[in-house]
This record gives sequence, C-alpha cells and structure tokens, in this order.
Amino acid sequence: MRKAKLLFRRKPVELIITESLETEDGLKRSLSLWHLVALGIGAIVGTGIFVLTGTAAANYAGPALTISFIISAMGCAMAGLCYAEFASMLPIAGSAYAYSYATLGEFVAWFIGWDLVLEYLFAGGTVAVGWSGYVISFLEGIGLHIPAKLAGAPFAHMAGEWSLTGCIINLPAVFIVAILSVLLIRGTRRSAALNNVIVCVKVTVILLFIGFGLWHIDTSNWVPYIPENTGHFGQFGWSGILRGAGVIFFAYIGFDAVSTAAQEAKNPQRDMPRAIIMSLFACTILYVLVTAVMTGIVHYTELSVPAPIALAIDRAGLVWLSPLIKIGAISGLTTVILVMLMGQARIFFSMAHDGLLPKFFSAINKKYQTPSNATFVTCLLASLIAGFLPINVLGEMVSIGTLAAFVIVCISIIVLRKTRPEIKRPFKTPFVPLVPILGLIICGAQMLALPVETWMRLFVWSAVGFSIYFLYGRKHSKMRNRKRRKPENV
Ligand code: ALA
Repeated sequence: MRKAKLLFRRKPVELIITESLETEDGLKRSLSLWHLVALGIGAIVGTGIFVLTGTAAANYAGPALTISFIISAMGCAMAGLCYAEFASMLPIAGSAYAYSYATLGEFVAWFIGWDLVLEYLFAGGTVAVGWSGYVISFLEGIGLHIPAKLAGAPFAHMAGEWSLTGCIINLPAVFIVAILSVLLIRGTRRSAALNNVIVCVKVTVILLFIGFGLWHIDTSNWVPYIPENTGHFGQFGWSGILRGAGVIFFAYIGFDAVSTAAQEAKNPQRDMPRAIIMSLFACTILYVLVTAVMTGIVHYTELSVPAPIALAIDRAGLVWLSPLIKIGAISGLTTVILVMLMGQARIFFSMAHDGLLPKFFSAINKKYQTPSNATFVTCLLASLIAGFLPINVLGEMVSIGTLAAFVIVCISIIVLRKTRPEIKRPFKTPFVPLVPILGLIICGAQMLALPVETWMRLFVWSAVGFSIYFLYGRKHSKMRNRKRRKPENV
C-alpha cells in the first residue's frame, strides 16, 4: 500500500515555484504578446507543413487533409487552453512534466516526461530529416549533388513493410544536428529578434506559395475530395481523415513552447494563453490554405516526396519562387530543430534535477553555464535518429507521444480543480470540464486512428521508460528522500 502511495507522491506546487525562482537567472521580462505569438509560430511551422503534408495526403486523406488539419487544430486548441491554465498557475516552470508532478504524482509525471522525450527528441530528429530534404533539393537546383548514398536513411517503411533503401546515412540531417548542438552547448540565448526575422521569412514564403499557387490550381485534382476508403481502416475515407489528423498533428507541435518562455514574458498571466491560442489559429489558417493549394496543383497520389511544396511550385512553373521557398523552409526548419533540442535538454535536466535520471544529466557546464551533458546526449541521440530512420515513422512516433502527453494534461486540469481549488489561477480554462473532456476525446481519437505499429512502438518505448523508472528513478527520487529525511535542501 505504502509503495503504491509512493508512486503517486506529488511535488508541491509551492516547491516548484520556489525552485524555479531559485534557478531563475534574472532574465529580462521583455517579450510582448506579439513576441510570444511569433515564438509560437516559430516553433510550430516546420516539417509538418513543409514535408509531412505530402505523405499524409498521399497515404491517408487525399485533398480532404484540409479537414484533418481542422480536427487536429481543435484538439490542440482544447489541450492548449488546459496548458494555458497550468502555464499561468506555474508561470515560471512551464512544462507538462512539472504540471503533472504537482497534480497526478511522480509516476504519471515520469510517464509524461518520457512521452515528452518522444515529442522533443524525435521531433528534433524528424525536422532535421525535413531540413535535409530541402537542402538537397536546393543544392540540386544550383547544380550541386550530394551522393545519393549519403542523402537518405538506410531504412524505409511503406504500407506496413520495412525495406532497405540502399542509402547509408542521411548526412545533411546529422550535420545540422551537430552544428546546432555546438551552438546549444555554447549557450546561444534564444534571440527574440532573430526568431522574429526567421518567422517573417517563413510566413512570407508560405504566403507567396498560397498567393501565387492559387492561380495554378486544377480543381479536377480535388475530385473526389474525400477519396474512397480502400477497405483498410485509415486509408482514405473518414477513417483516413482521422488518421491524417493524427499524423499531421505533428505540424501543430511546438505551441507548448510558448509556455517555456514565461520567465521572459512581460505579462505571462494575460499574454501566454492568448499567445497559445493566437499562434494556433494563425497556423491553422496557413496549413489549410497550403494543403488546398498543394493538392490543387499536384494530384495527391504524387505527393509522397521529401519536398512536396517545392514539387508543387515546379509543377506550377513558378521557377523564380522555388529557391525562395527552399531558403525559407531551410531557415524556418533550423529554428524548429533548435527549439526542440533545447526543450529536450531541459526535460532531461529537470528529470535529473528531481533525481529521476542520473545526476550526470543535471550537470551545468562551468564555462558556458548550460546543461551541456543533457544537451550532448540529446544531440547524439537526435543525430542517430535523424541519420538512420525514415521521416514518416519518426513523425508518427512524435504525434502519438505528444498526444498521450496532451491527454494527461487535459485530465490533470480536472483533477487539479478538485484537489487544489485554492491555488491562484490567473487564467482559467473556460467551460471545465467540457473543454478538457473535448480535448481528451479529440486527442484520444487521433491516437486511436494511428497505425497499430505506431502503438506497438509506443508500448516498447513506455516499457523502456517504466524499466528505467523502477530500476532507477523511484529509488533516487528527491521527493522520496525528502519525505524520509525531511531536509530543507531539496
Ligand atoms: N510543428 C513542428 C513542425 O512541424 C514540430 O516541424
């Protein structure tokens, strides 16, 4: 009985806030609402729209992928509102891992933290593969060819079958992770100004694609809008739309990154929830339009390529736009990888700080003042993932892991309203429990629609996570030792 209780020991909200204040390093509160929205868009728009849209339209939903984007956005908006309540309650330490440690206990927090590793680590790898696709395509455009053997993962996964591609490694993807690792270890402070510039470039090229591509749409490519189901769940028809929503959910990941900027926000309580919802809304409009234009120019069956927007531009004969789009995609994807790798290093760091992972991960580099060990391991793993695995498998893993974390965030809101009603909530999720329940249902449905193999991989991933927790984390948890020794230095 006591053992079971230990699994659900909670970290007091007050302690999380105190710890965060202790580690706060005097960051200037300089980010306005618009900076936060730009930060959100900067972290959200990436491989999802530049790459995965093509494979999701070709394999699952056809032109009706536009509907998938709307379904997925609704799930994100509900989960986003729940995130916002947590983020305003704990405006300093903002991550789903910390939120659940305070509400549902250590075991669930570990599970969420482990899922967030799927989100950030694998997303870092996935976006690096997308980056590589656009770099290769750009270099080819100017007559430079990377040897095919060094330009792709050795394994491919199509229609449930693994095969060998003949490639050795995706070298450009490993290269970008390595470069960004060095920057992260040396402590590049996220520069809001630089992020704003890159966001502008990224959004401008997308708007150019929509604006000019619109005139080249052949509406016969939209017929049938919802291709008939092939007889298999998830392959076109309405089940395909739902599976498409689960797959391109990846494209919305990153809005939670807004909550990690709370230390630097001028008015976190008021602006963070607004920024989360506004950046989600802006991205949804962009995504739906891009998908409509893309599937209008190129028939969806041809879209399973590494750079589908570039393909659509070539088909439309917009030769001048092609290098611009590629440069926009390459610079835009670089910031997404950076945010993901940084987020992942922070998660390893926080888990180690709580004693759930070895101290090695919470070491701070004396010279650069960064969590260099956590960053180094993150980047090493991300480069292995990016170098050897195909993008569709990676994207689906990220989606299922993040959806699982969101489902738990939605549950946590309901639980915390009951168990800790007294905590001050500058922002309250509206219509509780309706909004969290809708978030739970929409995110849960997208999870259920993902392929069985993705579930199997989630189970294996969770089994590894639970083994680490039971063999290491449970015994070394600082909360456990705090309760035993009752020291003041947690
Ligand atoms: N939402 C981010 C992307 O699509 C992860 O690249």
